[in-house]
Amino acid sequence: MIQRTHILGVGKAVPERVVTNDDLSRRMDTSDQWIQQRTGIRERHHIGSDCGASDLGRQAAEEALAEAGLGIADIDAIIFATLSPDIDWPASACLLAAKLGARAMPAFDVRNQCSGFLYSLASADALIRVGRARHVLVVGGEIHSTGIDITTRGREVAVIFGDGAGAVVLGPSPDGQCGLLSCHLHAEGKYAEKLWLEAASSRRRPRITVGDLGGDDPAAYPRMSGRYVFKHAVTRFPEVIQEALAANGCTPPDLDVLIPHQANLRINQFVAAALEIEESKVVNNIDRYGNTTAASIPIALYEARRDGRVKEGQLVCMAAFGAGFTWAAALFRW
Ligand SMILES: CC(C)(COP(=O)(O)OP(=O)(O)OC[C@H]1O[C@@H](n2cnc3c(N)ncnc32)[C@H](O)[C@@H]1OP(=O)(O)O)[C@@H](O)C(=O)NCCC(=O)NCCS
Repeated sequence: MIQRTHILGVGKAVPERVVTNDDLSRRMDTSDQWIQQRTGIRERHHIGSDCGASDLGRQAAEEALAEAGLGIADIDAIIFATLSPDIDWPASACLLAAKLGARAMPAFDVRNQCSGFLYSLASADALIRVGRARHVLVVGGEIHSTGIDITTRGREVAVIFGDGAGAVVLGPSPDGQCGLLSCHLHAEGKYAEKLWLEAASSRRRPRITVGDLGGDDPAAYPRMSGRYVFKHAVTRFPEVIQEALAANGCTPPDLDVLIPHQANLRINQFVAAALEIEESKVVNNIDRYGNTTAASIPIALYEARRDGRVKEGQLVCMAAFGAGFTWAAALFRW
């Protein structure tokens, strides 16, 4: 039985089209200053046309496979984290498997929003450690731009989200020592309605109506109690990071790199201050991508690996909080 798994390759894909805060302010009552002050976001990427989460996922997956020195034939399972699957069903993981030319293998989606990548990582780690798979492809991919209300009515949510994908290949740790130390997953469904998308809903016939799109309280777009989400995020993030560190006999000063989900720069600054972690140790790139939900951690990891911030031997923590509410952390010895 394999004792420890590690990330063997990382990939990233974002659409070419950059949408700045000024671009958005031409379509709704907002401003670059409001968005930057409240969220730290300067720009995000939106797809052009005819691109699904699995298409962006494919680009990221191919890059991750290349870095790992593996081909799709070496992969034994595919896990796709997304809240914006290409279609309602079947899973984007199945669509991606076909696009990559994968043989028959387990392929499934994890629908856990901003924590989806870490839930997927934990699932992949379990498959590998019990010997059900040697290499697992984990992708986080989102197309938000086609599902948000880019008018003043939807501005609170619309300015935050961006499109993107990140992918990792997990496999046995090269030396048996480095790799994933532990994953910690949480959910509290009583807060579901604080950040949610109600339509399409199997509770109703038809599942989506013209009224959903046109009413005062449109169900067809994501809705968020922003301040409520913020307050919970700044509590749960430090809590779950501490939990991961304590489970491995570590404390915040031991941490070399923190890769938090990119929901809001202010949230990440608050978390760093609460744990007394120097800001230079925290990977933030929300200014360029907005919140790409399940893709945000693998995209941030990709950049931190490429620019040398994540190096061998370091203690690296990934942490997320999002709709559900769900929250999670994963601790690595790189
Ligand atoms: C959404 C968020 C940025 C709002 O920031 P905030 O500091 O709470 O905002 P404020 O309460 O100061 O301002 C709200 C006001 O700005 C307005 N507003 C909302 N979105 C706006 C926008 N894009 N542009 C300009 N004004 C906007 C609101 O209508 C409200 O106006 P009112 O006071 O006249 O009612 C913040 O709450 C947040 O980031 N929450 C967490 C969201 C999150 O992380 N979501 C993803 C979780 S994974």
